[in-house]
Formats: sequence, C-alpha cells, structure tokens
Amino acid sequence: MSSKSDEWCFGLLSVFLLLGLLCGHTVEADDSGTTAQACNVSTSMALDLQKFSGIWWEIARQPTGSMFCTQINITVQNTTEDNVLIDSTYSNTITYPWVNQTMNATLTIANDTPAAGGYNFTFWNPPQYTPYAVWKVLDTDYDNYAFVCGYTNSTDNSTAFAMIIARNRTLSTTYLDSLESESSSRYDNFLNGSMTLITQDGTCEGNGADPSTALTAFYAIFALVIYALTK
Ligand SMILES: *[C@@H]1O[C@H](CO)[C@@H](O)[C@H](O)[C@H]1NC(C)=O
Ligand SMILES: *[C@@H]1O[C@H](CO)[C@@H](O)[C@H](O)[C@H]1NC(C)=O
Ligand SMILES: *[C@@H]1O[C@H](CO)[C@@H](O)[C@H](O)[C@H]1NC(C)=O
Ligand SMILES: *[C@@H]1O[C@H](CO)[C@@H](O)[C@H](O)[C@H]1NC(C)=O
Ligand SMILES: *[C@@H]1O[C@H](CO)[C@@H](O)[C@H](O)[C@H]1NC(C)=O
Ligand SMILES: *[C@@H]1O[C@H](CO)[C@@H](O)[C@H](O)[C@H]1NC(C)=O
Ligand SMILES: *[C@@H]1O[C@H](CO)[C@@H](O)[C@H](O)[C@H]1NC(C)=O
Ligand SMILES: *[C@@H]1O[C@H](CO)[C@@H](O)[C@H](O)[C@H]1NC(C)=O
Ligand SMILES: *[C@@H]1O[C@H](CO)[C@@H](O)[C@H](O)[C@H]1NC(C)=O
Ligand SMILES: *[C@@H]1O[C@H](CO)[C@@H](O)[C@H](O)[C@H]1NC(C)=O
Repeated sequence: MSSKSDEWCFGLLSVFLLLGLLCGHTVEADDSGTTAQACNVSTSMALDLQKFSGIWWEIARQPTGSMFCTQINITVQNTTEDNVLIDSTYSNTITYPWVNQTMNATLTIANDTPAAGGYNFTFWNPPQYTPYAVWKVLDTDYDNYAFVCGYTNSTDNSTAFAMIIARNRTLSTTYLDSLESESSSRYDNFLNGSMTLITQDGTCEGNGADPSTALTAFYAIFALVIYALTK
C-alpha cells in the first residue's frame, strides 16, 4: 500500500510541484482512510478575490449538465456589497456550439474569509433567474485549477454537483487525471477518471471555429458523437 502510494506520488511529483501541493498530504489522506467530504459539510475556502478573478473554463462536471463551451468571467469590484460579478458564456445547443448564451450574477464575498455556508445565489439567465444554488470553492491554486461544488438543497445530496474549472480552456489528460484523482479523494461528487467532460474544443466559439464553414458542421456532428459517448 505504502510503496504503491510512493510510486504514484513519484509519478505525479512534477504535477504536484506545479500545484504547490505536498505529496505527503495525499499519502496521509490515503493511509488514515479519510473519507471524501460531502459538499453540504465542506467549507468554501478563504479566497484571495483579486487572484481568483479573471477567466475560468469549465472542464468537468458531475452530474452532467446541459451547458458546454462554458466560460466564467469573474470581476471583483472595490466595494463592500455586491463586490463580485460573474458573467458566464455558454452554449446549450450541441449542433450550434458557437451560439452564445450568457448569464450573470452579482454577489457579496468577503476577501480572504472562509465561508462555511458557501455562497447562495441565482444567475440571471434571460428571460429568467436560475434556481438558487449554494456554491463552494473547495480548493484552488488560482493559476491553474479550482474545485467547486454546490447544491440546491442542503439536506438532499442528490441535488449536489461538482465542477473542475481551469484557467486553460483544454487540459492534458495527465493533468486532468491528477485533478480528478486529487479532488475525488477529498470531496464527494468528484469522480476519479470518469467525470463528464465539458466540450471546450475547436467547435466552441472563440476556440478556432468559423461558423461559416462546412468544416464546423462536421465538427458539430463530431462533438455530438463525443457528447453521446461521454454521457
Ligand atoms: C470580463 O468581464 C469584464 C467586466 O464586465 C469585462 O471588462 C471583460 O472584457 C470580460 N472579459 C472577457 C474575456 O469577456
Ligand atoms: C478601495 O477602496 C478603499 C476605500 O474606498 C480605498 O482606500 C482603496 O485604495 C481602494 N483600493 C483600490 C485598489 O482601488
Ligand atoms: C460569442 O462570443 C464571442 C466571444 O465573446 C464573440 O466574439 C462572438 O461574436 C459571439 N457570437 C455571437 C453569435 O453572439
Ligand atoms: C446582469 O448584467 C446586467 C447588465 O450588466 C445588469 O444590469 C444586471 O444587474 C446583472 N444581473 C445580475 C443578477 O447580476
Ligand atoms: C438560498 O436562498 C434562497 C433565497 O433566499 C432560499 O430560498 C434557499 O432556501 C437558499 N438555499 C439554500 C440551500 O440554503
Ligand atoms: C430538501 O430535501 C429534503 C430531503 O429530501 C426534503 O424533505 C425537503 O422538502 C427539501 N427541501 C426543498 C426546499 O425542496
Ligand atoms: C448533509 O446531507 C445529508 C444527506 O445528503 C444530510 O443527512 C445531512 O443532514 C446534511 N448535513 C447538513 C449539515 O446539512
Ligand atoms: C447520498 O447519501 C446517501 C446516504 O448517505 C449515499 O448512499 C449516496 O451515495 C449519496 N449520494 C451522493 C451522490 O453522494
Ligand atoms: C496552460 O497552457 C499554457 C500555455 O499553453 C501551458 O504552458 C501550461 O502548462 C498549461 N497549464 C496547465 C495546467 O495545463
Ligand atoms: C485515481 O485513478 C488512478 C488511475 O486508475 C489511480 O492511479 C489513482 O490512485 C486513483 N486516485 C484515487 C484517489 O483513488
């Protein structure tokens, strides 16, 4: 057990250095048999809002959502109330991945302060608001990845979801695997190696697609097949 862990640690050493995480941390979690924490009892970490702001891409989600090509743009204002603006751009039509939908939310988040109850807010998703959901940022290194979970009903874990978001729109399989392994060992709702991947490839607006070409139609069908296969 311990030599297997060491080997695994060694293999991921470079990634872990990149993440600024200590390998011993994961080994310890394995050895003590710590179980993954449910979202409703997790604490949203103390966020350095300036460092957390900017563009994020949704990489993986559990359970499957209906949005893809999702970009999250976080803007932090120098005010005490309503200081965080979230603008999200996404597509929800698999055959038209370049058609943008947008939704936005405004909320109050205290800088560098953990929030045990997370952040309960709604998105304005024209023509209506989404249901309220509690969101928690479980972990982030600010520069590469963040683990996010949420739920709409704190006592009904079937309403919980988990997301891996990243600064890069697409990630190498090796890096994504390490993120899934790390998150699933620490938190419920994350799966090791089998989370639903969010389409972020050339079919998405702003990622190489030209909607006027026939090639895009081909990519759209290709994406549909991949989508069906990964469901
Ligand atoms: C992100 O949102 C800010 C504030 O609305 C805006 O100035 C900026 O252009 C947006 N960035 C992108 C890439 O859309
Ligand atoms: C934010 O606002 C406070 C008080 O109004 C001010 O002292 C501070 O310089 C501002 N910070 C930035 C980065 O604008
Ligand atoms: C979608 O969003 C991108 C990037 O913000 C923009 O360049 C493009 O014009 C938008 N497309 C549509 C159809 O609104
Ligand atoms: C969404 O953005 C619009 C335009 O910037 C703004 O008027 C509105 O207050 C925002 N809504 C929310 C819920 O943040
Ligand atoms: C979030 O806030 C809304 C509106 O105040 C409330 O109805 C809902 O119960 C809250 N959700 C959770 C999970 O606390
Ligand atoms: C939340 O879930 C519990 C347990 O399933 C259920 O009894 C309760 O009615 C739910 N609350 C809401 C607001 O849906
Ligand atoms: C967390 O969710 C579980 C069921 O999913 C429930 O039994 C438990 O009471 C919840 N805990 C809190 C603190 O809401
Ligand atoms: C929800 O809680 C039940 C009972 O604790 C557990 O069997 C189930 O695996 C949980 N589901 C999720 C998605 O975590
Ligand atoms: C993100 O992309 C940049 C530029 O391609 C690359 O140098 C970096 O290693 C990538 N980071 C991750 C975590 O994939
Ligand atoms: C996740 O899966 C990989 C590959 O099967 C395995 O090496 C790793 O130990 C797993 N991680 C956890 C936390 O179970």
